[in-house]
Amino acid sequence: MPAPTSPSAAGLEGVVVGSSSICFIDGREGRLLYRGYDINDLVEHSTFEEVVFLLWHCRLPGKKELAEHERTLAASRKLPGKVLALLKGFPHKATPTEVLRTTVSALALYDSDAENNSPEASVRKAMRLTGQLATIVAAWARIRAGKTPLAPNARLSAAANFLYMLHGKKPDPLWIKTFDIALVLHADHELNASTFSARVTASTLSDLHSAITSAVGTLKGPLHGGANEAVVRTLQEIGEPARAEVWIKNALAQKRRIMGFGHRVYKTEDPRAAHLRRMAEALGRQAGDLKWYEILRTIERVVREEKGLYPNVDLYSGTCYYAMGIPPDLYVPIFAVSRISGWTAHVLEQHADNRLIRPRADYLGPTRLRYVSIDERK
Ligand code: CMC
Repeated sequence: MPAPTSPSAAGLEGVVVGSSSICFIDGREGRLLYRGYDINDLVEHSTFEEVVFLLWHCRLPGKKELAEHERTLAASRKLPGKVLALLKGFPHKATPTEVLRTTVSALALYDSDAENNSPEASVRKAMRLTGQLATIVAAWARIRAGKTPLAPNARLSAAANFLYMLHGKKPDPLWIKTFDIALVLHADHELNASTFSARVTASTLSDLHSAITSAVGTLKGPLHGGANEAVVRTLQEIGEPARAEVWIKNALAQKRRIMGFGHRVYKTEDPRAAHLRRMAEALGRQAGDLKWYEILRTIERVVREEKGLYPNVDLYSGTCYYAMGIPPDLYVPIFAVSRISGWTAHVLEQHADNRLIRPRADYLGPTRLRYVSIDERK
Protein backbone atom coordinates (compact mmCIF):
# COMPACT_ATOMS: atom_id res chain seq x y z
CA MET A 1 0.00 0.00 0.00
CA PRO A 2 1.45 3.44 -0.87
CA ALA A 3 2.48 5.71 2.02
CA PRO A 4 -0.01 8.43 2.98
CA THR A 5 0.79 11.68 1.18
CA SER A 6 0.61 13.68 4.40
CA PRO A 7 3.14 12.18 6.88
CA SER A 8 1.40 13.76 9.88
CA ALA A 9 -1.67 11.63 9.13
CA ALA A 10 0.22 8.41 9.87
CA GLY A 11 -0.99 7.27 13.28
CA LEU A 12 -2.57 10.72 13.77
CA GLU A 13 0.74 11.66 15.43
CA GLY A 14 0.54 15.15 16.88
CA VAL A 15 -2.94 15.70 15.40
CA VAL A 16 -5.40 17.44 17.75
CA VAL A 17 -8.79 15.81 17.15
CA GLY A 18 -10.93 17.51 19.77
CA SER A 19 -10.96 19.30 23.09
CA SER A 20 -11.22 17.85 26.58
CA SER A 21 -10.85 19.08 30.15
CA ILE A 22 -10.10 15.67 31.69
CA CYS A 23 -6.38 15.08 31.33
CA PHE A 24 -3.35 17.16 30.36
CA ILE A 25 0.08 15.79 29.43
CA ASP A 26 3.12 18.04 29.13
CA GLY A 27 5.46 15.74 27.24
CA ARG A 28 8.47 18.08 27.45
CA GLU A 29 8.27 18.74 31.20
CA GLY A 30 7.05 15.24 32.04
CA ARG A 31 3.87 16.41 33.77
CA LEU A 32 0.53 14.65 33.94
CA LEU A 33 -2.61 16.34 35.29
CA TYR A 34 -6.11 15.00 35.96
CA ARG A 35 -8.67 17.86 35.91
CA GLY A 36 -5.79 20.26 36.67
CA TYR A 37 -4.33 18.28 39.61
CA ASP A 38 -0.75 17.03 39.32
CA ILE A 39 -0.45 13.24 39.37
CA ASN A 40 2.36 13.56 41.95
CA ASP A 41 -0.04 15.24 44.42
CA LEU A 42 -2.77 12.71 43.71
CA VAL A 43 -0.40 9.78 44.31
CA GLU A 44 0.72 11.29 47.60
CA HIS A 45 -2.60 12.49 49.01
CA SER A 46 -5.47 10.82 47.16
CA THR A 47 -6.89 7.34 46.48
CA PHE A 48 -8.25 5.61 43.39
CA GLU A 49 -11.84 6.14 44.59
CA GLU A 50 -11.28 9.90 44.99
CA VAL A 51 -9.64 10.10 41.55
CA VAL A 52 -12.67 8.37 40.03
CA PHE A 53 -14.92 11.05 41.58
CA LEU A 54 -12.58 13.77 40.28
CA LEU A 55 -12.61 12.40 36.73
CA TRP A 56 -16.40 12.04 36.58
CA HIS A 57 -17.44 15.19 38.47
CA CYS A 58 -14.61 17.58 37.47
CA ARG A 59 -13.74 18.45 41.10
CA LEU A 60 -12.54 16.86 44.33
CA PRO A 61 -15.34 15.61 46.62
CA GLY A 62 -16.19 16.83 50.14
CA LYS A 63 -15.87 14.35 53.04
CA LYS A 64 -19.50 13.21 52.99
CA GLU A 65 -19.59 13.02 49.21
CA LEU A 66 -16.46 10.89 49.15
CA ALA A 67 -17.82 8.49 51.78
CA GLU A 68 -21.07 8.13 49.82
CA HIS A 69 -19.18 7.68 46.54
CA GLU A 70 -16.94 4.99 48.10
CA ARG A 71 -19.99 3.15 49.47
CA THR A 72 -21.78 3.20 46.11
CA LEU A 73 -18.68 2.07 44.22
CA ALA A 74 -18.07 -0.78 46.67
CA ALA A 75 -21.72 -1.85 46.42
CA SER A 76 -21.42 -1.96 42.61
CA ARG A 77 -18.86 -4.75 42.42
CA LYS A 78 -21.19 -7.75 42.23
CA LEU A 79 -21.76 -9.46 38.90
CA PRO A 80 -25.26 -10.61 37.93
CA GLY A 81 -25.59 -14.39 38.56
CA LYS A 82 -26.07 -15.08 34.86
CA VAL A 83 -22.86 -13.21 33.97
CA LEU A 84 -20.94 -15.19 36.58
CA ALA A 85 -22.39 -18.39 35.09
CA LEU A 86 -21.29 -17.21 31.64
CA LEU A 87 -17.73 -16.66 32.94
CA LYS A 88 -17.69 -20.17 34.36
CA GLY A 89 -18.58 -21.54 30.92
CA PHE A 90 -15.77 -19.84 28.98
CA PRO A 91 -12.93 -22.05 27.68
CA HIS A 92 -10.00 -21.98 30.13
CA LYS A 93 -7.62 -21.15 27.29
CA ALA A 94 -9.35 -17.78 26.76
CA THR A 95 -7.00 -14.93 27.67
CA PRO A 96 -8.08 -12.63 30.52
CA THR A 97 -8.39 -9.70 28.09
CA GLU A 98 -10.65 -11.66 25.71
CA VAL A 99 -12.79 -12.66 28.68
CA LEU A 100 -12.98 -9.06 29.88
CA ARG A 101 -14.04 -7.75 26.45
CA THR A 102 -16.77 -10.36 26.05
CA THR A 103 -18.05 -10.00 29.61
CA VAL A 104 -18.28 -6.19 29.46
CA SER A 105 -20.46 -6.58 26.39
CA ALA A 106 -22.59 -9.24 28.12
CA LEU A 107 -23.10 -7.01 31.18
CA ALA A 108 -25.11 -4.60 29.00
CA LEU A 109 -27.77 -7.29 28.59
CA TYR A 110 -28.40 -7.31 32.35
CA ASP A 111 -28.09 -3.56 33.03
CA SER A 112 -31.45 -1.82 33.47
CA ASP A 113 -29.92 1.46 32.21
CA ALA A 114 -28.17 -0.12 29.22
CA GLU A 115 -29.83 1.96 26.48
CA ASN A 116 -30.30 5.10 28.60
CA ASN A 117 -27.68 7.71 27.68
CA SER A 118 -28.85 10.45 30.08
CA PRO A 119 -25.98 11.83 32.22
CA GLU A 120 -27.54 10.35 35.40
CA ALA A 121 -27.92 6.87 33.89
CA SER A 122 -24.42 7.03 32.39
CA VAL A 123 -22.89 7.84 35.80
CA ARG A 124 -24.82 4.91 37.33
CA LYS A 125 -23.51 2.61 34.58
CA ALA A 126 -19.97 4.00 34.94
CA MET A 127 -20.16 3.27 38.67
CA ARG A 128 -21.28 -0.31 38.06
CA LEU A 129 -18.68 -0.98 35.37
CA THR A 130 -15.88 0.47 37.52
CA GLY A 131 -16.84 -1.93 40.30
CA GLN A 132 -17.50 -4.89 38.04
CA LEU A 133 -14.35 -4.85 35.90
CA ALA A 134 -12.17 -5.72 38.90
CA THR A 135 -14.54 -8.54 39.83
CA ILE A 136 -14.43 -10.00 36.31
CA VAL A 137 -10.62 -10.03 36.20
CA ALA A 138 -10.20 -11.58 39.67
CA ALA A 139 -13.02 -14.09 39.11
CA TRP A 140 -11.57 -15.25 35.79
CA ALA A 141 -8.08 -15.68 37.30
CA ARG A 142 -9.59 -18.05 39.87
CA ILE A 143 -12.02 -19.84 37.53
CA ARG A 144 -9.33 -20.76 34.99
CA ALA A 145 -7.16 -22.05 37.86
CA GLY A 146 -10.02 -24.33 38.93
CA LYS A 147 -10.82 -22.26 42.03
CA THR A 148 -14.12 -20.76 43.19
CA PRO A 149 -14.46 -17.02 42.46
CA LEU A 150 -14.79 -14.93 45.61
CA ALA A 151 -17.60 -12.46 46.28
CA PRO A 152 -16.36 -8.86 46.56
CA ASN A 153 -15.93 -7.45 50.06
CA ALA A 154 -17.64 -4.05 50.32
CA ARG A 155 -15.67 -3.14 53.46
CA LEU A 156 -12.40 -3.09 51.50
CA SER A 157 -11.05 -0.32 49.26
CA ALA A 158 -10.93 -0.95 45.50
CA ALA A 159 -7.23 -1.88 45.69
CA ALA A 160 -7.54 -4.13 48.77
CA ASN A 161 -10.68 -5.82 47.43
CA PHE A 162 -9.06 -6.68 44.09
CA LEU A 163 -6.05 -8.30 45.78
CA TYR A 164 -8.37 -10.12 48.20
CA MET A 165 -10.58 -11.45 45.38
CA LEU A 166 -7.49 -12.60 43.48
CA HIS A 167 -5.50 -14.23 46.29
CA GLY A 168 -8.29 -15.15 48.68
CA LYS A 169 -6.60 -13.65 51.74
CA LYS A 170 -6.24 -10.30 53.50
CA PRO A 171 -3.65 -8.35 51.47
CA ASP A 172 -0.43 -6.93 52.87
CA PRO A 173 -0.64 -3.12 53.53
CA LEU A 174 2.34 -2.35 51.24
CA TRP A 175 0.65 -4.35 48.46
CA ILE A 176 -2.59 -2.40 48.95
CA LYS A 177 -0.70 0.92 48.85
CA THR A 178 1.22 -0.11 45.72
CA PHE A 179 -1.89 -1.32 43.93
CA ASP A 180 -3.82 1.82 44.82
CA ILE A 181 -0.97 3.96 43.44
CA ALA A 182 -0.96 1.88 40.24
CA LEU A 183 -4.72 2.42 39.88
CA VAL A 184 -4.32 6.19 40.37
CA LEU A 185 -1.48 6.33 37.82
CA HIS A 186 -3.36 4.42 35.10
CA ALA A 187 -6.75 6.13 35.52
CA ASP A 188 -6.50 8.38 32.48
CA HIS A 189 -4.06 9.40 29.78
CA GLU A 190 -5.75 11.77 27.37
CA LEU A 191 -6.53 10.45 23.88
CA ASN A 192 -4.63 7.18 23.94
CA ALA A 193 -5.90 4.63 21.41
CA SER A 194 -8.47 2.89 23.65
CA THR A 195 -9.94 6.17 24.94
CA PHE A 196 -10.17 7.53 21.44
CA SER A 197 -11.92 4.36 20.37
CA ALA A 198 -14.42 4.69 23.26
CA ARG A 199 -15.13 8.27 22.18
CA VAL A 200 -15.63 7.30 18.53
CA THR A 201 -18.20 4.69 19.58
CA ALA A 202 -19.89 7.13 21.99
CA SER A 203 -20.03 9.79 19.27
CA THR A 204 -22.51 7.69 17.28
CA LEU A 205 -24.74 8.03 20.38
CA SER A 206 -24.15 4.39 21.12
CA ASP A 207 -24.29 3.38 24.80
CA LEU A 208 -21.61 3.24 27.50
CA HIS A 209 -21.20 -0.56 27.49
CA SER A 210 -20.61 -0.51 23.71
CA ALA A 211 -18.03 2.26 24.07
CA ILE A 212 -16.19 0.36 26.81
CA THR A 213 -16.31 -2.88 24.81
CA SER A 214 -14.61 -0.99 21.94
CA ALA A 215 -12.04 0.38 24.38
CA VAL A 216 -11.15 -3.05 25.80
CA GLY A 217 -10.84 -4.43 22.25
CA THR A 218 -8.44 -1.59 21.41
CA LEU A 219 -6.42 -2.02 24.58
CA LYS A 220 -5.93 -5.70 23.74
CA GLY A 221 -3.45 -5.01 20.90
CA PRO A 222 0.26 -5.29 21.79
CA LEU A 223 1.03 -1.73 20.66
CA HIS A 224 -1.15 -0.38 23.47
CA GLY A 225 -1.39 -2.57 26.58
CA GLY A 226 1.08 -5.29 27.34
CA ALA A 227 4.55 -3.72 27.46
CA ASN A 228 4.72 -4.32 31.23
CA GLU A 229 4.12 -8.03 30.68
CA ALA A 230 6.97 -7.98 28.15
CA VAL A 231 9.25 -6.26 30.71
CA VAL A 232 8.68 -9.15 33.11
CA ARG A 233 9.55 -11.63 30.35
CA THR A 234 12.77 -9.65 29.71
CA LEU A 235 13.66 -9.82 33.41
CA GLN A 236 13.04 -13.57 33.44
CA GLU A 237 15.31 -13.92 30.41
CA ILE A 238 18.12 -11.83 31.94
CA GLY A 239 17.85 -13.63 35.27
CA GLU A 240 20.73 -12.01 37.21
CA PRO A 241 21.87 -8.36 37.69
CA ALA A 242 25.40 -9.31 36.58
CA ARG A 243 24.05 -10.31 33.15
CA ALA A 244 21.96 -7.17 32.61
CA GLU A 245 24.49 -4.81 31.00
CA VAL A 246 25.74 -7.29 28.39
CA TRP A 247 22.21 -8.50 27.65
CA ILE A 248 20.84 -5.02 27.05
CA LYS A 249 23.84 -3.91 24.95
CA ASN A 250 23.39 -6.99 22.77
CA ALA A 251 19.68 -6.30 22.43
CA LEU A 252 20.36 -2.70 21.38
CA ALA A 253 23.05 -3.83 18.93
CA GLN A 254 20.44 -6.13 17.36
CA LYS A 255 18.12 -3.06 17.11
CA ARG A 256 15.58 -4.68 19.41
CA ARG A 257 12.86 -2.54 21.01
CA ILE A 258 13.40 -2.38 24.75
CA MET A 259 10.03 -2.65 26.45
CA GLY A 260 9.21 0.01 29.03
CA PHE A 261 11.18 2.76 27.25
CA GLY A 262 10.17 5.59 24.94
CA HIS A 263 6.81 7.29 24.52
CA ARG A 264 4.84 9.00 21.78
CA VAL A 265 4.17 12.05 24.00
CA TYR A 266 6.79 12.15 26.80
CA LYS A 267 10.19 13.32 25.67
CA THR A 268 11.56 12.99 29.20
CA GLU A 269 10.78 10.50 31.98
CA ASP A 270 7.14 9.52 32.20
CA PRO A 271 6.11 10.96 35.61
CA ARG A 272 4.30 7.70 36.43
CA ALA A 273 7.53 5.69 36.20
CA ALA A 274 9.13 7.40 39.23
CA HIS A 275 6.33 6.32 41.58
CA LEU A 276 6.33 2.74 40.37
CA ARG A 277 10.16 2.60 40.61
CA ARG A 278 9.89 3.65 44.27
CA MET A 279 7.21 1.01 44.96
CA ALA A 280 9.17 -1.73 43.11
CA GLU A 281 12.14 -0.99 45.36
CA ALA A 282 9.96 -1.01 48.50
CA LEU A 283 8.38 -4.35 47.51
CA GLY A 284 11.83 -5.80 46.73
CA ARG A 285 13.17 -4.68 50.14
CA GLN A 286 10.15 -6.13 51.92
CA ALA A 287 10.65 -9.47 50.17
CA GLY A 288 14.44 -9.32 50.77
CA ASP A 289 15.03 -9.69 47.02
CA LEU A 290 16.15 -6.67 45.01
CA LYS A 291 17.34 -8.72 42.04
CA TRP A 292 14.77 -7.45 39.55
CA TYR A 293 14.98 -3.88 40.79
CA GLU A 294 18.75 -3.94 40.29
CA ILE A 295 18.42 -5.39 36.79
CA LEU A 296 15.98 -2.62 35.88
CA ARG A 297 18.28 0.10 37.25
CA THR A 298 21.11 -1.25 35.07
CA ILE A 299 18.84 -1.41 32.01
CA GLU A 300 17.74 2.19 32.67
CA ARG A 301 21.33 3.42 32.82
CA VAL A 302 22.44 1.62 29.66
CA VAL A 303 19.36 2.58 27.58
CA ARG A 304 19.78 6.21 28.65
CA GLU A 305 23.52 6.22 27.80
CA GLU A 306 23.19 4.36 24.51
CA LYS A 307 19.85 5.58 23.13
CA GLY A 308 18.91 8.65 25.20
CA LEU A 309 15.54 7.01 25.98
CA TYR A 310 13.61 7.40 29.24
CA PRO A 311 11.44 4.87 31.09
CA ASN A 312 7.67 4.88 30.65
CA VAL A 313 4.91 3.70 33.01
CA ASP A 314 5.39 0.07 31.97
CA LEU A 315 8.99 -0.35 33.09
CA TYR A 316 8.23 -0.86 36.78
CA SER A 317 4.49 -1.65 36.90
CA GLY A 318 4.90 -5.30 35.85
CA THR A 319 7.67 -5.76 38.44
CA CYS A 320 5.34 -4.42 41.14
CA TYR A 321 2.48 -6.72 40.06
CA TYR A 322 4.80 -9.71 39.83
CA ALA A 323 6.08 -9.04 43.36
CA MET A 324 2.44 -9.20 44.49
CA GLY A 325 2.02 -12.66 42.97
CA ILE A 326 -0.05 -11.48 39.99
CA PRO A 327 0.38 -13.55 36.79
CA PRO A 328 1.73 -11.52 33.80
CA ASP A 329 -1.27 -12.13 31.54
CA LEU A 330 -3.46 -10.20 34.00
CA TYR A 331 -1.49 -6.96 33.51
CA VAL A 332 -3.47 -5.74 30.48
CA PRO A 333 -6.87 -6.35 32.11
CA ILE A 334 -5.58 -4.69 35.31
CA PHE A 335 -4.83 -1.64 33.18
CA ALA A 336 -8.55 -1.69 32.26
CA VAL A 337 -9.58 -2.07 35.93
CA SER A 338 -8.10 1.41 36.43
CA ARG A 339 -8.62 2.99 32.98
CA ILE A 340 -12.36 2.27 33.11
CA SER A 341 -12.56 5.47 35.19
CA GLY A 342 -10.96 7.55 32.43
CA TRP A 343 -12.81 5.80 29.60
CA THR A 344 -16.17 6.45 31.26
CA ALA A 345 -15.22 10.09 32.02
CA HIS A 346 -14.45 10.56 28.32
CA VAL A 347 -17.76 8.99 27.25
CA LEU A 348 -19.62 11.32 29.65
CA GLU A 349 -17.71 14.30 28.20
CA GLN A 350 -18.39 13.15 24.63
CA HIS A 351 -22.12 12.74 25.24
CA ALA A 352 -22.34 16.10 27.03
CA ASP A 353 -21.37 17.94 23.84
CA ASN A 354 -21.57 15.40 21.07
CA ARG A 355 -20.58 15.64 17.47
CA LEU A 356 -20.17 12.49 15.39
CA ILE A 357 -16.46 11.67 14.99
CA ARG A 358 -16.11 10.99 11.31
CA PRO A 359 -12.78 12.01 9.80
CA ARG A 360 -11.77 11.77 6.14
CA ALA A 361 -9.13 9.61 4.50
CA ASP A 362 -6.48 10.84 2.11
CA TYR A 363 -7.66 8.80 -0.89
CA LEU A 364 -4.79 7.34 -2.90
CA GLY A 365 -6.63 5.02 -5.28
CA PRO A 366 -7.62 5.50 -8.92
CA THR A 367 -10.62 7.55 -10.01
CA ARG A 368 -12.86 7.37 -13.10
CA LEU A 369 -12.26 3.68 -13.85
CA ARG A 370 -14.63 2.27 -16.42
CA TYR A 371 -16.79 -0.63 -15.19
CA VAL A 372 -15.99 -3.74 -17.23
CA SER A 373 -18.61 -6.45 -17.34
CA ILE A 374 -17.50 -9.79 -15.83
CA ASP A 375 -17.47 -11.50 -19.26
CA GLU A 376 -15.05 -8.94 -20.68
CA ARG A 377 -12.54 -9.09 -17.76
CA LYS A 378 -9.22 -10.85 -18.35
N1 CMC B 1 13.71 0.66 22.42
C1 CMC B 1 14.61 0.94 21.46
N2 CMC B 1 14.48 1.99 20.62
C2 CMC B 1 13.39 2.74 20.75
C3 CMC B 1 12.41 2.50 21.72
C4 CMC B 1 12.60 1.40 22.57
N3 CMC B 1 11.72 1.11 23.52
N4 CMC B 1 11.44 3.43 21.63
C5 CMC B 1 11.78 4.24 20.63
N5 CMC B 1 12.97 3.83 20.11
C6 CMC B 1 13.68 4.46 19.01
C7 CMC B 1 13.19 3.95 17.68
O1 CMC B 1 13.91 2.84 17.23
C8 CMC B 1 13.41 5.16 16.81
O2 CMC B 1 14.80 5.23 16.54
P1 CMC B 1 15.33 5.66 15.08
O3 CMC B 1 14.82 7.08 14.89
O4 CMC B 1 16.80 5.52 15.20
O5 CMC B 1 14.71 4.68 14.14
C9 CMC B 1 13.08 6.33 17.73
O6 CMC B 1 13.36 5.85 19.04
C10 CMC B 1 11.61 6.80 17.62
O7 CMC B 1 10.76 5.68 17.81
P2 CMC B 1 9.25 5.61 17.24
O8 CMC B 1 8.81 4.17 17.25
O9 CMC B 1 9.13 6.35 15.96
O10 CMC B 1 8.45 6.41 18.33
P3 CMC B 1 6.89 6.28 18.60
O11 CMC B 1 6.46 7.56 19.19
O12 CMC B 1 6.12 5.79 17.42
O13 CMC B 1 6.88 5.07 19.66
C11 CMC B 1 6.52 3.72 21.48
C12 CMC B 1 6.49 5.15 20.95
C13 CMC B 1 6.01 3.72 22.92
C14 CMC B 1 5.63 2.80 20.64
C15 CMC B 1 7.99 3.20 21.46
O14 CMC B 1 8.80 4.02 22.27
C16 CMC B 1 8.09 1.74 21.88
O15 CMC B 1 7.92 0.84 21.04
N6 CMC B 1 8.42 1.49 23.19
C17 CMC B 1 8.48 0.13 23.68
C18 CMC B 1 7.08 -0.37 24.04
C19 CMC B 1 6.55 0.28 25.28
O16 CMC B 1 7.24 0.42 26.29
N7 CMC B 1 5.27 0.66 25.23
C20 CMC B 1 4.56 1.30 26.33
C21 CMC B 1 4.34 2.74 26.04
S1 CMC B 1 3.67 3.69 27.41
C22 CMC B 1 2.04 3.19 27.48
C23 CMC B 1 1.12 4.25 28.03
O17 CMC B 1 1.40 5.45 28.02
O18 CMC B 1 0.05 3.84 28.49
